[in-house]
Amino acid sequence: MNREPLSQETVARLERDRTLTDGEFASLLETDAYDAALYESADRVRRSVYGTDVYVRGLIEFTNWCKNDCFYCGIRHGNKNASRYRLDEEEILGCCASGWELGYRTFVLQGGEDPFFTDDRICSIVSRIKRHFPTCAVTLSIGEKSRASYQAYFDAGADRYLLRHETASHWLYGQLHPAAMSLDNRIRCLYDLKEIGYAVGAGMMVGPPRQTTEHLVEDLRFLEKLGPHMIGIGPYLSHRDTPFAAEPNGSLSLTLRLLAILRLMFPKALIPATTALGTIHPKGREMGLKAGANVIMPNLSPVGVRKKYELYENKICTGEDAAECRVCLDRRVEAAGYRVVVDRGDPK
Ligand code: 5AD
Ligand code: FES
Repeated sequence: MNREPLSQETVARLERDRTLTDGEFASLLETDAYDAALYESADRVRRSVYGTDVYVRGLIEFTNWCKNDCFYCGIRHGNKNASRYRLDEEEILGCCASGWELGYRTFVLQGGEDPFFTDDRICSIVSRIKRHFPTCAVTLSIGEKSRASYQAYFDAGADRYLLRHETASHWLYGQLHPAAMSLDNRIRCLYDLKEIGYAVGAGMMVGPPRQTTEHLVEDLRFLEKLGPHMIGIGPYLSHRDTPFAAEPNGSLSLTLRLLAILRLMFPKALIPATTALGTIHPKGREMGLKAGANVIMPNLSPVGVRKKYELYENKICTGEDAAECRVCLDRRVEAAGYRVVVDRGDPK
């Protein structure tokens, strides 16, 4: 991929046209010279669509059992050191009840690909949450399933689904996952979810081993084609019990640059300042908000299991209880110049 020259006009054009050429994207990803202009432009666009509103999603990590073996992930099947847990239905409902009191109106059920949670069990959980909290949105983040399963969850009341594509490059996908997993199936899942009527979230890791600028440009093109409602990205962070233990973490500044580019490409998208961003730098999530992110996903899981959902090392918010997290968060968001709202925060 050739690199093309940039100027201040390039950022203005990205804001206006919502896209650039491959060569321009590549150049932009490889320099910090336009970061200030990108953040300013992204924040303007974000404020024009969403004002200063920040939506919160209560994240319930309900199982860390996983049948997959992604090379980067701390809860991969092959990690015999992981201490495994599952929340039961009552515990999950309890998380939602305390979340409701704290002002959460979206609950995200996230877990590894755990065969214990059959479609019937997932549907039962979703419909019970919707019955107890009819004004809330339920988001699922439980991996690759058949179209029929996705349809069943949707019919049970699930509103949204998060499934990061991780990387849009077939070659890089193969470097990060065992041969049993395929990018084509993941992409099939994303299109099925969209067709069924979910609000869909995709996204990639920034800086996993062997990722190049070209791969990130492929990610941007893939997202343009998919047109997701939500886009979650975060830096790759190493975990001692994975084949990538010795690999360096992804870059904070590249993640922030990508957040700003994504806001300019997708003005209406719901874009979280992720936990991984808050882990790589103590002010990472605040920096993410200022670069165009408008969602935060605090942990609602019971304190006793939080350390066990260890996708990567040093994960933040594994100590406090949900109430403390929420107070801490309101303060942080306000200090950054935004405001947490009590709202489902549906896609515009
Ligand atoms: N570092 C950063 N992000 C990770 N994820 C999984 N493992 C890691 C890691 N080591 C991300 C993946 C997944 C999401 C739930 O967490 O992108 O989709
Ligand atoms: Fe569980 Fe990748 S290790 S989905």
